[in-house]
Amino acid sequence: MKYPFLVGLLALVTAATRLPEAPSAFDGVSNGLVDSTTHQTDQSRFDEVEGVDDGLGPLYNAQSCRECHQNPVSGATSQITELRVGHRAGGRFENPSIPIARGTVVIAGRSLVNDRAICPSAQFSNTEIQERVPLTETIMTTRVSLGLLGDGFVEAVADETLINVARRQPAQSGGKIRGQALYVPVVEAPGETRIGRFGWKDQHASLLSFSADAYLNEMGITSRLQPDEVTALCNTAQEPNNRPESDGLEDIDHFTRFIRAAKAPPRDAVLAETASAMRGSQIFDAVGCAICHVRTLTTAPAGTKINGGMFTIPAALGGKAFHPFSDYLLHNVGTGDGIVQSFQEHYGRRAYSVGWRNLSAGDFYNTADKIRTAPLWGVRMQTRLMHDGLSLTFRDAILRHRREANDVTLRFENLSSGQQEELFQFLRSL
Ligand code: HEC
Ligand code: HEC
Repeated sequence: MKYPFLVGLLALVTAATRLPEAPSAFDGVSNGLVDSTTHQTDQSRFDEVEGVDDGLGPLYNAQSCRECHQNPVSGATSQITELRVGHRAGGRFENPSIPIARGTVVIAGRSLVNDRAICPSAQFSNTEIQERVPLTETIMTTRVSLGLLGDGFVEAVADETLINVARRQPAQSGGKIRGQALYVPVVEAPGETRIGRFGWKDQHASLLSFSADAYLNEMGITSRLQPDEVTALCNTAQEPNNRPESDGLEDIDHFTRFIRAAKAPPRDAVLAETASAMRGSQIFDAVGCAICHVRTLTTAPAGTKINGGMFTIPAALGGKAFHPFSDYLLHNVGTGDGIVQSFQEHYGRRAYSVGWRNLSAGDFYNTADKIRTAPLWGVRMQTRLMHDGLSLTFRDAILRHRREANDVTLRFENLSSGQQEELFQFLRSL
């Protein structure tokens, strides 16, 4: 029983070492998935500033994807945070009920609180829809923007790969660390689920599902996958706001292809070659950071069908090795914000009527105090660290790691100040 398993594992490891590297650069050029004209067209949709006529709002956070995903190039990250709140009832997290329009309408079914609204305006001078946090909400956090560069490779990782990483962790950590792999709905394939890997809470497995979620919840723009507005007040645009163009694609399809075609964030080539960063890299492994911040993952072979059969991994993304410094699993490192991702917000109102394979409410509730291991590729561009953006230095971010990461943090604290500086130098090179 054990022997063939080991042979299989060995074959996998040898295959992994031979896999070509995913391309990495901040050059805005396609990773090979599409030609450069197509990539520029897709990026122009991602960069486009939407207005009320395009369906912006009624409630929203920003007018373009790029507003929050731009440092140093479109598709990367930013300092922008958004607001999530809720409370506990019957021992469980519950979404807020947010009264708008002087209490005549209540926004429910989401933990997100939108920071902006399209009215009152000239056309609706008497309609007040701005959301504010009600006094009833005792749980609140900010969540900082995430980078999307390289996420096409992350999407192309097989579920089994992530499950195997989780299985290895207890043995690597004296039983302390075991990431949670969470099955989440693939919105474009009703009934199908996949291991979540995107968002601070692993709320999505598919970049198309995430793009439709972001278009609705960040910008208020409905699409075929998220057809229901958060509120009808002040809404004048045609529904769904996002429709196919002459090429047959909606904006959400362009966003998705733009992200899938993006190269991974590159290292700082100069710092990466310094002796101190190289020693820091060894320290990173030696103290156990790499148990969660996994250096290398590999994508499934080209031709593999993923996302409930809705996407076939192309040659540009299949069979590649890449270095995200994350296991994409959920962990309790003592920083949890107590929030369980809202089903309606992320998968749509209609998702309730679908019978989802492998979906477990218990597994969802179990995520309240867990956060996905933050991928560290490109972290040198991030000024505000951790999910809430409240850690401003690498030292502070590391010292906040407790619970599952406690032994690792103690080993960090026992390093000499010179060794700690080498570890920071390594992080500055990522
Ligand atoms: C107001 C800021 C803002 C806007 C606008 C915005 N995003 Fe985001 N984005 C975020 C934040 C914050 C997160 C992390 C959300 C979370 O998990 O709670 C995120 C996460 C993501 C992720 C997951 C990345 C990962 O690696 O886990 C994707 C994909 C994404 N956004 C795509 C988009 C697209 C496409 C648009 C435009 C339709 C968009 N975003 C607009 C702030 C924004
Ligand atoms: C048990 C798993 C685990 C271990 C071990 C671990 N981390 Fe983390 N790391 C996480 C999680 C989960 C987060 C996100 C926490 C949050 O946002 O609240 C994180 C976040 C971070 C961040 C913030 C990144 C960002 O973009 O905001 C840095 C930097 C970081 N870790 C470095 C390290 C270093 C260095 C070590 C070793 C000393 C380490 N981590 C060990 C799981 C781990």
